[in-house]
Amino acid sequence: MSAMVPNKLLVLCMVIVTSLVCLSYSKCDFEGIFNFGDSNSDTGGFYAAFPAEKGPYGMTYFHKPSGRATDGRLIVDFLAQALGLPFLSPYLQSIGSDFRHGANFATLASTVLLPNTSLFVTGISPFSLAIQLNQMKEFKARVVELHEQETKLPNPDIFGKSIYTFYIGQNDFTSNLAAIGIGGVKEYLPQVVSQIGATIKELYELGGRTIMVLNLAPVGCYPSMLVELPHDSSDLDEFGCMVSYNNAVVDYNNMLKETLTKIRENLSDASVIYVDTSSVLLEMFRHPTSHGLQHGTRACCGYGGGDYNFNPRVYCGNTKELNGSTVTATACEDPYHYVSWDGIHATEAANKLTTLAILNGSYSDPPFPFHERCDLQPIG
Ligand SMILES: *[C@@H]1O[C@H](CO)[C@@H](O)[C@H](O)[C@H]1NC(C)=O
Ligand SMILES: *[C@@H]1O[C@H](CO)[C@@H](O)[C@H](O)[C@H]1NC(C)=O
Ligand SMILES: *[C@@H]1O[C@H](CO)[C@@H](O)[C@H](O)[C@H]1NC(C)=O
Ligand SMILES: *[C@@H]1O[C@H](CO)[C@@H](O)[C@H](O)[C@H]1NC(C)=O
Repeated sequence: MSAMVPNKLLVLCMVIVTSLVCLSYSKCDFEGIFNFGDSNSDTGGFYAAFPAEKGPYGMTYFHKPSGRATDGRLIVDFLAQALGLPFLSPYLQSIGSDFRHGANFATLASTVLLPNTSLFVTGISPFSLAIQLNQMKEFKARVVELHEQETKLPNPDIFGKSIYTFYIGQNDFTSNLAAIGIGGVKEYLPQVVSQIGATIKELYELGGRTIMVLNLAPVGCYPSMLVELPHDSSDLDEFGCMVSYNNAVVDYNNMLKETLTKIRENLSDASVIYVDTSSVLLEMFRHPTSHGLQHGTRACCGYGGGDYNFNPRVYCGNTKELNGSTVTATACEDPYHYVSWDGIHATEAANKLTTLAILNGSYSDPPFPFHERCDLQPIG
């Protein structure tokens, strides 16, 4: 009699497990994501290498710093969720990582071009795109060698079944702007674009067949840029964004788009996709209230800077002595009403709206509606 009870329990558990497996099943062409980028898509790589992050970063979703330069999830996080995949582990994170569905090579302050002293003076990550590509090659070699004995590595067939995302170039564009101006930066932007192109060709050689490049954001609307870059009021458009810098962004993006078009001709069995996330963000900066937001060019987390709530001497989360008084750059109470989190990076709210536009496919060239390739999961 007493032996019957455990048996019944066992059957019950098996039934529950079976139905859970059935419920969570979903179809997606993509079994992994490999991401290359900077702080806009770093899920903890930089802070794994150089631990330092403090609150209020992470306040909205993780409720603690998560290595991401925002209040919650990034575009790459929402994309993973929509495809039914776990958040991407940073390649540089030695504890708790799970690479069965891809890896993230992005780190805060990364550039496309080599971070050498003649081009970038300060504040640039050592993990530039060429390094990130080398890490990808090493990752693949280790997977091929070790996947049978390591539990957190994918099967080697993942490389052809993954989406490769790029969200990088912003630091190449912005980090020299104050010093050498738009004209100076424009001289090396063709190198930035051709380096992205060369990296795509190498990923193709590694087996990549779906490669998606997010373009450069409208940095002329960023609170940090509005405070730090020289401009006069005649350069501001009706939305409070700097026309000259945003025009330079458009020029760069056109160059990027053309380069991807040429590369696509040579890689006929691959999808090389340009995504105009810049237009999505620009629309949010211009008409925040049309998208459930309230503030365009005002940062949620910051101090001073008038309407911009940004002071380059006191970044979000920091406390400093300014003119004899101690000040702290704190977060707003409602980050979901802002486009800009800390003056430099987008909020989770903006990242979510941008991801919905990416998933829709109509901002992509060629159009790339994800629902044709995957049963998309809700990203609440
Ligand atoms: C820095 O990079 C640029 C562009 O790749 C190159 O022309 C220059 O020689 C490099 N400078 C140094 C000091 O390595
Ligand atoms: C395409 O391939 C041809 C032949 O290999 C090469 O000459 C050309 O430079 C390639 N174009 C691009 C954009 O990669
Ligand atoms: C500190 O003092 C300088 C010089 O008097 C002034 O330009 C600046 O606006 C002050 N900063 C703050 C945060 O009050
Ligand atoms: C993408 O957005 C457009 C414009 O809002 C809409 O008409 C279209 O149905 C959407 N497509 C998908 C696949 O959601």
